[in-house]
Amino acid sequence: LQKERRIVQEAHEYSAKLYHYMLQNLEISKPAKDYLRSRGLGEPLIEQFGIGYAPPRWDTLTQALARKGYSEAEMEAGGLLSRRQESDGYVDRFRDRIMFPIHDARGQTIAFAGRLLSDGQPKYLNSPETALFSKSRTLYRLHEARSAIRKSGQVVLLEGYMDVIKAWSAGIHNGVATMGTALTSEHAAILRRFADEAVICYDGDDAGQAAAQKSIPLLEEAGFRVRVCLLPNRMDPDEYVSAYGPEPFLREIVEGAVSAVKFQLIYLRKSHILLEEDGRIRYLRDAVRIVARRDSPMERELLLKELAQEFGVALETLKQECYEIRQRDK
Ligand code: CTP
Ligand code: MN
Ligand code: MN
Ligand code: MN
Ligand code: MN
Repeated sequence: LQKERRIVQEAHEYSAKLYHYMLQNLEISKPAKDYLRSRGLGEPLIEQFGIGYAPPRWDTLTQALARKGYSEAEMEAGGLLSRRQESDGYVDRFRDRIMFPIHDARGQTIAFAGRLLSDGQPKYLNSPETALFSKSRTLYRLHEARSAIRKSGQVVLLEGYMDVIKAWSAGIHNGVATMGTALTSEHAAILRRFADEAVICYDGDDAGQAAAQKSIPLLEEAGFRVRVCLLPNRMDPDEYVSAYGPEPFLREIVEGAVSAVKFQLIYLRKSHILLEEDGRIRYLRDAVRIVARRDSPMERELLLKELAQEFGVALETLKQECYEIRQRDK
């Protein structure tokens, strides 16, 4: 079994080199090169992230792996090849896609994500779960980001591959992403070994904000202090960096990240109509419930003070409400 894992791992190393070589050297890769350039990924980033291209043919990798003596069945189990639908045999799993190699914490290539050059489904095709690759434990770029995470005591969590790359180009070297899946407690535990602050920098759209809302308790349970970035106009970090540049991304978005509880209050606001009295009452009640979960009495008081001022309610009333919630939930 150990030997099979090693063979699949070597095949991934070889495939990553081949995809990268083809992107850099084949005429057929020109659209892929143009596409990457149009998204702000020039040579340094292509090299830094080992980006490649899987041509449209059905058997580019299949043939190359066969020439190297790898067994097709093993390569299928490893996620590099797929079984033919209609007849016997195997074909390349990834075709006509930009290839992002995915590494384990030691820096060994264990999987790929492949992005289409145009609109279509699925936009990203990832390797399946294999003996080497588990989505619930893998974080994109952890092997490269680890030293920066440790040094700063902070990890920046992003949603997508492009976001990690563009954040890196903006100087955020402590950024990682999950594999198109939700953050798990396993991810949180792995990251907690290197940092005590997590900055969630997910997409500004509804899906990203909902995912942030879900990741907060998970990270707090792992012992992180959590902050959340607020991106304008439903943008994602990649789009923000392209539109406004690296400097505002660094200073305004990442450094300007708000505390988890502030984010929860902002998020709560979206589902309440504050122009109406019962909407305001319901918001306040839910807001105090969020505040009541904070451990620090001082933090609770400061947050309640802000709510009291904004809504013209006596601080004492909110404190009472908060106290009752805490008694009840004890
Ligand atoms: N994702 C995926 N499969 C999809 C769509 C998304 O695996 N069909 C994952 C990818 O990891 C992707 C992340 O979810 O990076 C975030 O999705 P989304 O915001 O839709 O994509 P972007 O990262 O913004 O992709 P791009 O900028 O390339 O359009
Ligand atoms: Mn190269
Ligand atoms: Mn998204
Ligand atoms: Mn996105
Ligand atoms: Mn994007």
